[in-house]
Amino acid sequence: MKTPKTGEMLHLRGNALTTGDPVALPLTQSSMYHLPGAPEGHASYGRVDNPTWVHLEHVLAHLEDAPCLAFPSGMAAISAALFATVKAGSRLLVPSDGYYVTRLLADRFLSPLGVEVEERPTATFAEGGFDRLDVVFVESPSNPGLDMIDLAVVAQDVHAKGGITIADNTTMTPLGQRPLDLGIDVVVSSDTKAMGGHSDMLMGHVASRSAQIMERVEEWRKVSGAIPGPHEAWLLHRGLETLDVRFDRMCASAQILAERLLAHPAVKQVRYPGLPDDPAHALAQAQTARFGFLLSLTLESEDKAETFINACPLLRPATSFGGVHSSAERRARWGDDVDPAFVRLSVGCEPVEELWYAIEASLNAL
Ligand SMILES: Cc1ncc(COP(=O)(O)O)c(C=O)c1O
Repeated sequence: MKTPKTGEMLHLRGNALTTGDPVALPLTQSSMYHLPGAPEGHASYGRVDNPTWVHLEHVLAHLEDAPCLAFPSGMAAISAALFATVKAGSRLLVPSDGYYVTRLLADRFLSPLGVEVEERPTATFAEGGFDRLDVVFVESPSNPGLDMIDLAVVAQDVHAKGGITIADNTTMTPLGQRPLDLGIDVVVSSDTKAMGGHSDMLMGHVASRSAQIMERVEEWRKVSGAIPGPHEAWLLHRGLETLDVRFDRMCASAQILAERLLAHPAVKQVRYPGLPDDPAHALAQAQTARFGFLLSLTLESEDKAETFINACPLLRPATSFGGVHSSAERRARWGDDVDPAFVRLSVGCEPVEELWYAIEASLNAL
């Protein structure tokens, strides 16, 4: 797998500077631009242009090896990708076990506009084929179940039937998995998670090598007004500068924790693509550069799962994931179709032995 050059990424701005320029990215907090006379070729208005976004998108494009557009959240990016690609009468396939708000968007807003929506579980997604489907949306590994799908095969099969593919790559980031290189048409990501990495803002992006699709996505952003705030764009840019080092630590720690959790008597089941017996392992080995920072563990009961999470001083009981602080939650509390004692654990940047000590102590006390 070709991985992005993150050293080059860190110097993208620096290598274009002239004497006296600030090395750090300036934050442009302005809705208006000085614009006398002919407006062409200049920043015009804050809903259309912002220099902080422009540089952020330059960095995102380096990571994705494709043109990128920034959005104010992952859902704003997903909405943009879907509204840019479906129309009345389109048939859309979404995972039944992926992030639930994508399904809500399809059911509550796209269906009433005449889009026919079908759902399938990620583990058996390709069963049933891709006949007459216009847009196929995948999430791999799926959140929270961590099942995977063969992206190259899906892209090829969907294209053969005339459809297009969108992949939500939030759980892996472009450092872990590269859907566009595998033939997927559009990548969407919640950069609120590991890309930003500090749990201090919401952002998202859309990436595609199709100029036609990106033109529609950009028009959608302009017209819908779903634009990122400059400060959020600035925070995401700063987060991206340490993505490589954070992702490396998080994935390495997740592997160690998954192996130890598997051997702990209080744990009934562990899902982590890096475990040799995990159903997603073979696919993850073939398709991803790392096995990720998300894992799940199932304990004996809902009560024990709550106690485990809330008693562990190095786990934040919080929804969302991908931050420097490890966090955990029972996904059944949001209605995900999982065991009530299923805990999604997002491994952060704490030193792994310190983290394991806290997790083990909390499990031992159950
Ligand atoms: C896989 C996945 N995609 C998209 C989203 C939506 O992202 P945001 O909360 O930034 O809108 C989430 C949020 O949890 C997610 O887990």
